[in-house]
Amino acid sequence: MTAEPSTRVMTVTTEAVAEAVRCLMAGGLVAFPTETVYGLGADATNARAIARLYDAKGRPAFNPLIAHVHDAAAACDLGKLDPVAARLAEVFWPGPLTLVVPRQPSCPVAELATAGLATIALRVPAHTVARDLLAAFGGPIVAPSANRSGHVSPTTAQHVLSDLRGRIDFVLDGGPSPVGLESTIVDCIREPALLRPGGLPRADIERVLGHPLADSPPSAEATDEAPIAPGQLASHYSPRTPLRLNASSARAGEALLAFGEPLPLGSDRALGALNLSSGADMIEAAANLFSHLRALDALGAPAIAVMPIPHTGLGEAINDRLRRAAAPRPDV
Ligand code: TXA
Ligand code: MG
Repeated sequence: MTAEPSTRVMTVTTEAVAEAVRCLMAGGLVAFPTETVYGLGADATNARAIARLYDAKGRPAFNPLIAHVHDAAAACDLGKLDPVAARLAEVFWPGPLTLVVPRQPSCPVAELATAGLATIALRVPAHTVARDLLAAFGGPIVAPSANRSGHVSPTTAQHVLSDLRGRIDFVLDGGPSPVGLESTIVDCIREPALLRPGGLPRADIERVLGHPLADSPPSAEATDEAPIAPGQLASHYSPRTPLRLNASSARAGEALLAFGEPLPLGSDRALGALNLSSGADMIEAAANLFSHLRALDALGAPAIAVMPIPHTGLGEAINDRLRRAAAPRPDV
């Protein structure tokens, strides 16, 4: 039996924040307080750290994550805020409001964090500890609520530890989260719509907009319990090239998405091949999933043959995404 890896817990001090930043920079997972709930933070640009984050939460699917930034200017580097989004940001940031906007082409956030979508959820938290951490880190931090999938969101460091001790690297203990409810999520891609009610009351947002928020179907926002189903998100990512799942061999001219070794029969005749993880490591495979799919899609092959991927650990989420990407969808 291997010893359980340990989770460091530190009460907030300048030194503790500096330690947390070092941990994030090294690809670690750091739980930290925000005004809404505790978040489980990872470097938003590090796909491998994000794959570990999904693994730690035990999420059955790669739901897109919220990118936390220090201020509106940093948010504009990641996403395009139209005048309505910019107005909401001006009034409510920092605070418990998350805006879903189109991704900037130059956005450095890992594809895995936004689940391959063309949109990104952005939030500027108000909690002093979260703000100090973001300022010292100097880049975007993705942070889902710091609970195991299916459990309620944590509002104290103790809650975080009871769910995630041994599964994450560090907990910054900054006392209870004052709001205790997750942020309100507003979709700013179309008519502003409420994706998730939360810590900022709907009426406050509508007062600034001057009209009611559109209602989106409850399914438009994925929860740990009910991840987004195929087609429910208008911008759901699918490659143009059809996928052939559980392929035991590659046909001539196909693109090949491999997993592990040895490569299957016919791989030498493939138009191009990329391996999710030649060592069959699930975390490496998850980190590579969306970028490899995109690269193979760009080859213009008649199909992408995908080798079977075991269903263990992150394999469940990888297979979930592959099934969605392979599902027939209406032309848009
Ligand atoms: O208060 C909060 O928002 C907390 C703290 C830590 O900031 N975070 C949080 O994250 O609640 P999480 O991952 O538990 O919930 C984020 C929700 C998910 O349901 C996800 O589906 C949705 O945001 N989301 C993220 N990106 C999205 C996108 N591009 N389009 C639609 N929904 C998105
Ligand atoms: Mg959550």
